[in-house]
Amino acid sequence: MTGRVVLVAGGTSGVGSSVVDRCLESGDRVFVTGTNQARLAARLATGDGTLLAGELADLADQRACERTAQHVLELYGQVDAVVIAAGVGASGDLATGDPGKWRDMTVTNVLGPPLLVRATLPAVRDAGGQFIFIGSVFGRKPAPGSLYAATKGALTALAESLRQQLVGTGVRTCIIQPGRIDTPWWPQGAPPPALSAAEVANAVQWVIERPSTVDVNEIVLRPTGQQF
Ligand SMILES: NC(=O)c1ccc[n+]([C@@H]2O[C@H](COP(=O)([O-])OP(=O)(O)OC[C@H]3O[C@@H](n4cnc5c(N)ncnc54)[C@H](OP(=O)(O)O)[C@@H]3O)[C@@H](O)[C@H]2O)c1
Repeated sequence: MTGRVVLVAGGTSGVGSSVVDRCLESGDRVFVTGTNQARLAARLATGDGTLLAGELADLADQRACERTAQHVLELYGQVDAVVIAAGVGASGDLATGDPGKWRDMTVTNVLGPPLLVRATLPAVRDAGGQFIFIGSVFGRKPAPGSLYAATKGALTALAESLRQQLVGTGVRTCIIQPGRIDTPWWPQGAPPPALSAAEVANAVQWVIERPSTVDVNEIVLRPTGQQF
């Protein structure tokens, strides 16, 4: 056991689920959230009930974030790292996309992370812990007509804004900005080249394992050969 407690928002699939695997292999205690009951149940079934727990919680719901923060503390007594992997996309561009899907994407990707930060900040501050966001290369350089890129750009700004706010508290912040990743995000499989979820999770684990005096703030991770 490392003694660490890691909360993974959006830990039921893809990158978040691989982060859960890595943390469990390291001996961390893990709390996982998602919105899909079947996926959550499948994820929790891989644990023995002592190192892995979780609940349904919509990242974009303030009350749900507050409940999660309270439940992690009740269960494990501390929160050392909050990994926010939850995110959604929407197909189409600014001319062809479905505005009905834009609201859900925007509240999940832009409003959700600060809600969970706010809810967990007292515990993370007590632990001298860290926040790790899964952004995107599109959060550095937008793609044509992409509202998704705009949401990830907002997340990039949030991570830096949070870093500045937390100077002097001992809390560290990092945004990992991957290129394409082969996860259930791509129902037909990601077109190559693509990272594996495990490769992105390795970066998350590396950040978690840096000494408390080292604040890694940004990592860009592309599969070799990706253009953008
Ligand atoms: N795949 C890529 O090519 C790629 C590239 C760059 C960056 N990213 C980013 O990487 C992150 C992880 O994506 P992924 O590829 O692993 O996708 P994924 O397999 O679809 O996983 C997304 C995760 O987010 C959770 N989630 C979605 N909406 C949520 C909400 N409102 N509240 C709580 N949890 C929510 C999902 O759980 P439920 O289904 O249970 O809600 C699931 O666990 C995302 O932020 C994405 O933007 C992905």
